[in-house]
Amino acid sequence: MFSSKYTNRLFGRTRGRSKKKINLKNYYEKVNKYKFQNFNERSEYILDVGTGYGETSIFLAKQFPDKTVISCEKYIDGNILLIKKIENNIINNIQLHVGNVYDVLEITNKRYFRLVWIFFPDPWPKNRHAKRRLITSDFLIKLHEILKENSEIYIATDSTVYIRFILNSIYNCKNYFLWVNHSEMNLDIKDYFNIETKYYKKAINSYRKPSLFILRKL
Ligand SMILES: C[S@@+](CC[C@H](N)C(=O)[O-])C[C@H]1O[C@@H](n2cnc3c(N)ncnc32)[C@H](O)[C@@H]1O
Repeated sequence: MFSSKYTNRLFGRTRGRSKKKINLKNYYEKVNKYKFQNFNERSEYILDVGTGYGETSIFLAKQFPDKTVISCEKYIDGNILLIKKIENNIINNIQLHVGNVYDVLEITNKRYFRLVWIFFPDPWPKNRHAKRRLITSDFLIKLHEILKENSEIYIATDSTVYIRFILNSIYNCKNYFLWVNHSEMNLDIKDYFNIETKYYKKAINSYRKPSLFILRKL
């Protein structure tokens, strides 16, 4: 169903650093059980991009039991943990896309999405890697096309380089999105909701304050 014509290449790790062997046959069998296949016309969706170890998908699935969360992540170790959490919590509203979020955007032919979450996207802080950054004005405009009216995008990052880059992208999309919380950037993520992802904890342990951007579709 997914075409091989990638709009954007997907960089970063597929496996963790641990040398622990993974039974890939087992992994793909499990993934298949939860795999995102097609949109259901009668459902509303949440897009969770780069879920890492899946904390955000579990949080969103519990917070919005009437919506379906599509969790996009190619990182095998993370998906294994997410599937474990899905099974332990008996959650039935998460579907996995093991790969690039652009695959999902490519086949989205209607405004199915109520919410998009992008927690700690890879910052690619070096200038020569800037083209790898996910959050660009083109990407935000693409999200604008798949969001229902008044729906929101949540983006968290602790990288000062990426914050500047995101601000610039938001400015370039000012006719597409309202930056809802621009006067509340002093607030902490914990002032909005109680969630700790691996990269949130990394930021806090390194004394970096994460910023949250909330954009509402105009
Ligand atoms: C820095 S990690 C953050 C993980 C998690 N959200 C957290 O807060 O701990 C970023 C993740 O985004 C994933 N990623 C990067 N680009 C992506 C893309 N185009 N589509 C889907 N996932 C992507 C990477 O594989 C990586 O696991």
